[in-house]
Amino acid sequence: MTDRELINLAIGAAGKAYAPYSGFNVGAAIECFSGEIFTGCNVENAALGSSICAERTALVKAVSAGRKDFKRIAVYADSEKYCMPCGTCRQMLMEFAPDMEVLCAKSGGAYVSYRMNELLPYPFVLS
Ligand code: THU
Repeated sequence: MTDRELINLAIGAAGKAYAPYSGFNVGAAIECFSGEIFTGCNVENAALGSSICAERTALVKAVSAGRKDFKRIAVYADSEKYCMPCGTCRQMLMEFAPDMEVLCAKSGGAYVSYRMNELLPYPFVLS
């Protein structure tokens, strides 16, 4: 799968976002080393702190399906700036995939690429 194909899946997932409070629709697509893909969108809630980001939706779908080995994740929002994973998502993704590639895409489809350990140097670890 090319970067562009993974980003297109993230764009498709953004179409499923439930974001009536922020109006900011986000999609993510996480790729396992097996080639399987899990998509996710942000799902907001009237109790705003209960909302979940697209990246974590995709991640928890994958982990709950028994997958723990991740190669890449694409994140997309129809915005002028690149959609970068928030701090909570960085910590959650880091748990499973410190070397994972992170593609951050914006309106029009342009994207930038990072490694997880670049986005979260010095992560919290237990003991
Ligand atoms: N959001 C994501 O889903 N992923 C990100 O990388 C950044 C923020 C969501 C959370 C909330 O539903 C909305 O975008 C505005 O913060």
